[in-house]
Amino acid sequence: MAGDEQQQQAPLHVVVFPWLAFGHLIPFLELSKRLAARGHAVTFVSTPRNVARLPPVPAAGLSGQVRMVALPLPAVDGLPEGAESTADLPPEKVELLKAAFDGLAAPFADFLAAACSADGRSGELERRPDWVVLDFAHHWLCPIADQHQVPCAMFLIVTGTMLAYNGSRRENASHPRVTVDDFMPMPRWFPSPPSLAFRRQEAAWMAAAFRPNASGVSDIERTWRTEERCRLLVFRSCPEAEPRTVFPLLAELFGKPAVPAGLLLPEPEEDARDGGGHSNAVARPGALQWLDGQPPRSVLYVALGSEAPVTAASVHELALGLELSGVRFLWALRPPSGGGGTGTGEQPLLPEGFEERTRGRGAACMGWVPQVRVLAHAAVGAFLTHCGWGSVAESLRFGHPLVMLPFVVDQGLIARMMSERGVGVEVARRDDDGGFSRDDVAAAVTRVMVEEEGKELALNAKRLRELVVGDDGGRQERYVDELVECLQRHS
Ligand SMILES: *[C@@H]1O[C@H](CO)[C@@H](O)[C@H](O)[C@H]1NC(C)=O
Ligand SMILES: *[C@@H]1O[C@H](CO)[C@@H](O)[C@H](O)[C@H]1NC(C)=O
Ligand SMILES: *[C@@H]1O[C@H](CO)[C@@H](O)[C@H](O)[C@H]1NC(C)=O
Repeated sequence: MAGDEQQQQAPLHVVVFPWLAFGHLIPFLELSKRLAARGHAVTFVSTPRNVARLPPVPAAGLSGQVRMVALPLPAVDGLPEGAESTADLPPEKVELLKAAFDGLAAPFADFLAAACSADGRSGELERRPDWVVLDFAHHWLCPIADQHQVPCAMFLIVTGTMLAYNGSRRENASHPRVTVDDFMPMPRWFPSPPSLAFRRQEAAWMAAAFRPNASGVSDIERTWRTEERCRLLVFRSCPEAEPRTVFPLLAELFGKPAVPAGLLLPEPEEDARDGGGHSNAVARPGALQWLDGQPPRSVLYVALGSEAPVTAASVHELALGLELSGVRFLWALRPPSGGGGTGTGEQPLLPEGFEERTRGRGAACMGWVPQVRVLAHAAVGAFLTHCGWGSVAESLRFGHPLVMLPFVVDQGLIARMMSERGVGVEVARRDDDGGFSRDDVAAAVTRVMVEEEGKELALNAKRLRELVVGDDGGRQERYVDELVECLQRHS
């Protein structure tokens, strides 16, 4: 599959080790499956409960192998027993998970030492690893890999634009950003359209995240320490989906190859995400059954991801906005994460009478919703999203126009990137507190779903889809081929 028949390279053995969040575990698993499909051996390292909750790797079509290694997560004061991923914790306890995660350094060192002393006589997986592919949080890992002369590649599940915005330690030293205003525009090393910027609320989040954190090692410090010792930077992205200049700029900023791995999209029939351990049940999920009864391209699919900080008040405004807009919708609804909500759990999740008033044209699903299968459904015409990169990437493949409601991290930047491409409209937010009202929601939904403008957005979304997928549908897979060649060349 990797092209070069003349120069058949030996299969690689790659150790992959994602951060303990399903938004990371799943793309690392998608990468693993694609490496195994090309004949390579992958050792996937995580913790016991995460390994147990991952969707099974289908053996069919894999000429290589994926082996799971579960390192027990050390106990840390205050971290609930059994909490092994961010999905098991409220946001304020994630730092404790990082502390526990740092305790995996010694078990990982033992694992790698054993893996490197294996003789390879009983199969590829028993061969010494050629690479460790790691995430942003593993600031302690590269020194361990160095001891065994195993090179490291950092796999970022985010856009290249986000890492370019963060810059390297050297950019931080030469052009430090201090105030919230400093964090709003793209930095001076990034030649961008002015529309690409963070809003005040989003920039405040970034500014806080850049401050050294006394409780341990900040995310940016983890990222820099890891990046500095990696030979390659690999992104779950592709140049077609980002501003033109990003990949060359990254190579220059970080002084090493910046390689797109493609969007690594799961196949609709293999859609089993979020760590619920859901297999594709025999019964057709309710959300899909409901869609079956709707006219083509008529439904707005609404999902704000599993970990966006959505308050109870936001859920209400969103509901009332959907009601006002009059459009058909399917809402993958999650309980709010608190902050600004009542926090008592006594207030009903949805406004009084909402379900009765929208019955027939709207459905709110509390359980697990197979997002990729929903996006693939002919009845879906647009996607209201929090603009997590995984969701936007999944949507790009089906060419849906977007209604965008970003919250934190890189979501605002992704929303601006997609506005710039003319494939979506953002829900307006207030300048002071970043809040939004039902009218703001209804206005954005109507622009995308009802007004003439929506046709243009849908056309642009379709064009972007063709650009990303490629004429023969194979562009994304070619990025994986190129990544493999790059791993072989640099190992
Ligand atoms: C960029 O920096 C923010 C703030 O420290 C951090 O949360 C995020 O993970 C970083 N992203 C990348 C790609 O480095
Ligand atoms: C970034 O640079 C500023 C100014 O030199 C410094 O105070 C800050 O600690 C640096 N940030 C990090 C995360 O190292
Ligand atoms: C460090 O970060 C944690 C979680 O983000 C936060 O709760 C804590 O207050 C921060 N500590 C400092 C000193 O900023």
